[in-house]
Amino acid sequence: MTYDEIRKVFLDFFESKGHKIVPSASLIPNDPTLLFTVAGMVPWKGILQGTEPAFAPRVADVQKCIRAGGKHNDLDEVGFDGRHHTFFEMLGNWSFGDYFKDGAIEMSWELLTQVLKLDPARMRVTTHISDEESTEIWRRVAGKEAIRLGDKDNWWSAGDTGPCGPCTEIFYDFGAEFENEDDRWVEIWNDVFMQYDRDANGNLTPLPKQNVDTGAGLERWAALLQGKVDNYDTDLFVNLIHATEDIVGVKKTPENTPSFKVIADHLRAVGFAIADGVIPSNTDRGYVIRRILRRAMRHGQMLGHRGVLLSKLYPALVAEMGHAYPELGREEKRVVEIIQNEENAFADMLQNGIKLLDNEIPKIQNGILPGEIAFKLFDTYGFPLDLTQMILGEKNISVDVAGFERAMSEQKERSRANTKGTRTLWESQTEQPGTDDSSKYAPDNTMASRVLAILRNGEFVPSAASGDEVEVALDKTNFYGTQGGQVGDSGELVADNKTVMNVAEATRVDNIVIHKGVLAAELNVGDIVYTKINTATRQQTARAHTATHLLQAALRHVLNEDVEQRGSKVSPDAVRFDFSFGRAMTDAEKQATEDLINKWISENMPVSHEEMSLDAAKQRGAMALFGEKYGDVVKVITAGDISCELCGGTHVYNTGEILHAHINKEKSISSGVRRITMSVGTMAE
Ligand code: ALA
Repeated sequence: MTYDEIRKVFLDFFESKGHKIVPSASLIPNDPTLLFTVAGMVPWKGILQGTEPAFAPRVADVQKCIRAGGKHNDLDEVGFDGRHHTFFEMLGNWSFGDYFKDGAIEMSWELLTQVLKLDPARMRVTTHISDEESTEIWRRVAGKEAIRLGDKDNWWSAGDTGPCGPCTEIFYDFGAEFENEDDRWVEIWNDVFMQYDRDANGNLTPLPKQNVDTGAGLERWAALLQGKVDNYDTDLFVNLIHATEDIVGVKKTPENTPSFKVIADHLRAVGFAIADGVIPSNTDRGYVIRRILRRAMRHGQMLGHRGVLLSKLYPALVAEMGHAYPELGREEKRVVEIIQNEENAFADMLQNGIKLLDNEIPKIQNGILPGEIAFKLFDTYGFPLDLTQMILGEKNISVDVAGFERAMSEQKERSRANTKGTRTLWESQTEQPGTDDSSKYAPDNTMASRVLAILRNGEFVPSAASGDEVEVALDKTNFYGTQGGQVGDSGELVADNKTVMNVAEATRVDNIVIHKGVLAAELNVGDIVYTKINTATRQQTARAHTATHLLQAALRHVLNEDVEQRGSKVSPDAVRFDFSFGRAMTDAEKQATEDLINKWISENMPVSHEEMSLDAAKQRGAMALFGEKYGDVVKVITAGDISCELCGGTHVYNTGEILHAHINKEKSISSGVRRITMSVGTMAE
């Protein structure tokens, strides 16, 4: 059975048992305790806890999952066996207070033995040591004596807190020829009986209802049903591995198999996560994705490949999985661009970092790399610690992690002292002409700019080297420097078609736009460079900014005309909006606000960007921020006939570009001031 057939058999079976079939939720959970959707139950956490109503008593789906951090982390296993993945698809069925242990076990067994016709003799089951009831049900339903295990094996939760309960797992025997128990017995299904909620102190409170949460790894089922022992030998992976062979120009052999597996796995994690709105960055889930992408590049390098890899492979992923997950194709252009930027930024650093490591390895005594070297690799060459560990692990060398952490906190201290200082330093420059950033609204307008100043380690320098962390001022730029609540652009400075600097963020001090980041080549004052902003991120920020205007307009409709903006932060795909209002919004008001914004988005209203005199803008009734100073000529952003605001930010040209908006939270931040956090774009979808 192919992947497509298995998904269908699973869903058809549960539909025939009265389950509502729903599509996969996003990999980005609406849940601050988790980085990713780690299991099928994550979107249903509120229902299990009783804080959200169940939309159906029985539900089934195939859910995209990533397990690469926190309590559920399979990253280190990937490549070295045939059963683990960072990204995988989980088949699941749920009962929200409907059937319980009997129903769950009966249906699992029926599907496995009657529909899939797996040999009952090759299956074993486990139950929790305390769970007499499930043990008895297994005797009745399958004539099986369950193996009774403790919390470590048979108690399940998504995170350290939240819904949890005892579980029963079904294992399949891949054959006595496997000497290792883990290779021989593979868990193919887990039925969890969600009965408790665990709080931060570890206390268990019974949930309002007794629920069932099951999960089965589609990739393991595919191996089983295609007569393979290794998931990476199933149809989907074989095709991804062939595509990799074509691009790297090397065939898979027993020796290099781990690299092919890692690349196929990481392509899926990176591709799906970015399609769902994750942006590689230095924090949280963005950092997990950056790490995974860099590991994949390292494995490409081990296969002799140089330069970008996953961005070239992404179309193969769309070909394999795009029909089951249309977002992969819909977001293709954006995803490829983000991966490409990220890979280009790291390509040279990877080569240089490996060179540094090759020099250091002969000096190593007692098999431990000093923490400062690991930190230098991290800081200068962008090597996540686990990448360094992985490379050294191949040579049986470990890293002094405590030393690494010490070096990291010293650096943080220095940079904290430094940030205070750099503002003053730049301020001392502001009598200079400053930066002409009049092209900031035309992101594609790559321009030749002259380097005016380079600040490194608290000093203005005439020249800085590859790997240096610097702040750079140019005579002109199209980077938007952080201002008016909108975060600045990221991107590159380019010369001779090569990246000279990876700009993590553009900020501003008075009239100077400051490009902050790490040099990828030598840079001198007076050099000519081309500014290239990350247009994918810019588009996401523009969506968020226009959505902020729609949010303000919607609040004035739903609550009242007196609602006033008190502050905002606009980042790629996300908005934080503070406004004056005396009480908490009701659920109905929040829903009405969100619905209104989405109605305006679906109406594809044109958004005009016009420059005019302040007087003309006032006459037009443009909303302005109280207490803000405006110049004589201002920009006015008008969305259809529903919003007209003075604003210097970057915006979309049609409300439809926003795709979707979703209010995540509304809370009080001080007396009379409320805060809404909202996702937009693919993140919200
Ligand atoms: N949520 C359970 C698991 O992921 C079913 O194993």
